[in-house]
Amino acid sequence: MRIFSGIRPTGEIHIGNYLGAIKNWIALQEKNECVFSIVDLHAMTTPYLPQELQKNIMEVTKVYLAAGLNPEKCIFFVQSQIKEHTELSWLLSTVTPIGDLQRMTQFKEKSVKHKRDVNAGLLNYPILMAADILLYGTDLVPVGKDQKQHVELAREIARRFNKKFGKTFKEPEVLLPKTGAKIMSLQNPEKKMSKTDNPQGCIELLDKPDAIRKKIMTAVTDPGKEIKYDVSQKPGISNLLTIYSLFSGISTTDIEKEFEGKGYQTFKEKLSQLLIEKLEPFRRKKKELELRQTLLEKILEEGRKRAQIIAQETMKKVRKKMGLLK
Ligand code: AMP
Ligand code: TRP
Repeated sequence: MRIFSGIRPTGEIHIGNYLGAIKNWIALQEKNECVFSIVDLHAMTTPYLPQELQKNIMEVTKVYLAAGLNPEKCIFFVQSQIKEHTELSWLLSTVTPIGDLQRMTQFKEKSVKHKRDVNAGLLNYPILMAADILLYGTDLVPVGKDQKQHVELAREIARRFNKKFGKTFKEPEVLLPKTGAKIMSLQNPEKKMSKTDNPQGCIELLDKPDAIRKKIMTAVTDPGKEIKYDVSQKPGISNLLTIYSLFSGISTTDIEKEFEGKGYQTFKEKLSQLLIEKLEPFRRKKKELELRQTLLEKILEEGRKRAQIIAQETMKKVRKKMGLLK
């Protein structure tokens, strides 16, 4: 299977990104042809600092590698280095109805959040994402739940293109993790954990032990004192149980049993310890990579070369089909 996914180089990577997406990628790279991209062009649709973009790209590169992405088993590259992404994005925009873009949940949410900068890039974001996916003949797109709608639109765009110009693209499918597709904010369990949300509600992969403990101990919980998985009645505790389960490999039912009659405090202390222990290797490996700038550049350059070959081949076909080539 050909797999494609991307992550925006905006600030730190949190455990929601990890459990919702990256963890899945690491498992998938063993038996599939995986292509993973740092999507810097997507990061430009919301306010950002140009002088920080390169630094953020390198940060994300190091976190990916520290988390277990293996450049010998996948293609790992920076989106803007392959011009075919922007070219295909334009061509696909000519088969995408504006209404489809305007009804996207992320567009609606971000338009409210960034009221003063509702740029056309924010509206066209899913077309660029479709271009990312379709360029590489992707079968499966592993993402968190918030991106499902965008992958479905990419599928729709592929279908529409094929109908109009003849079979060209595979119709990609979304791949969500069974649990962890939507990790919620520790401070507001009704909202997804997000980098731009309240930082206290978001545990970063590289958080130090003190920060982890503080965030878990102050996480919003629910009335009562039972440790029970019940999303509608106990969204806070259920979110913590999900995190506990995914990092420990123990089912939520078994965790409930372990903490029967023990109360929130004990549960949170154990969860803090678990996270401190499980996140330690990320920080260690990331630190090692700080000293390997040349290696990092080599990895991204190698990824660029390999991605380029596939992208150019696809574009040749697309140009022909659309009448841009003889
Ligand atoms: P982003 O940081 O928005 O580029 O997201 C990168 C990946 O992480 C995407 O596949 C998202 O769907 C996923 N993701 C982001 N936030 C969460 C969350 N709170 N829970 C689960 N997955 C998430
Ligand atoms: N839009 C995705 C996000 O915010 C990132 C992304 C860009 C992506 N292109 C992609 C994900 C292609 C999967 C496939 O998380």
